Amino acid sequence: MMTADPLGAMKIDVLTPEVATDHLAELVELLVQAVENGALVGFVWPLDAPTANDFWQGAIESTTTGDHLLIGALVDGRLIGTVQLYLSPEPNAPHRAEVYKLLVHRDFQNRGVGAALMTEVEAQAKNHRRSLLLLDTVEGGASERLYRRMGWREVGTVPHHFNDPYGKPKASIYFMKHLS
Ligand SMILES: CC(C)(COP(=O)(O)OP(=O)(O)OC[C@H]1O[C@@H](n2cnc3c(N)ncnc32)[C@H](O)[C@@H]1OP(=O)(O)O)[C@@H](O)C(=O)NCCC(=O)NCCS
Repeated sequence: MMTADPLGAMKIDVLTPEVATDHLAELVELLVQAVENGALVGFVWPLDAPTANDFWQGAIESTTTGDHLLIGALVDGRLIGTVQLYLSPEPNAPHRAEVYKLLVHRDFQNRGVGAALMTEVEAQAKNHRRSLLLLDTVEGGASERLYRRMGWREVGTVPHHFNDPYGKPKASIYFMKHLS
């Protein structure tokens, strides 16, 4: 059941492979409902649960390399949001990391969960001595507003970078953020 104040009861942390696997079904649900709602997160609709399951199993496996952090937001033991951080393994970019697949369950949106996940991304990036973050997102959505509000700087727009899950062309915006 949803709490009146999800932030009050919310825990945000890096998920170990074991904990992420415990929440695999919730990760699958998060991704499937986001794509159904039109989110541009690499998939098209219809997205079936086995495909989403394969994606998350791959993401969980890649966390074992140490270059990839899977962060989760949990309320009452239920995973309601996630984001991923890739620490550049390239020797000439030890200061850089990229942010992927910020997802908040639709029942918990507009309560600050997305902002809290992004705050944790920044904290984790700093813990790993990263000072430059990059991401791209669809133009004109809640995510664009969120990143601008959190001080991300627009690098540029790419027209028709992706199709949305229903085949409509969409532009994306690249953002960067320097961490002090
Ligand atoms: C983008 C996304 C992650 C944002 O998550 P969220 O938890 O809703 O984000 P927040 O709650 O921090 O902010 C969203 C809005 O709620 C508002 N808000 C935050 N806390 C609030 C509160 N306590 N009361 C009322 N409004 C609040 C914010 O001001 C913001 O308003 P805006 O949309 O007018 O700019 C979510 O919409 C989502 O999962 N979308 C689908 C996937 C997607 O597109 N991901 C981006 C990939 S790059």
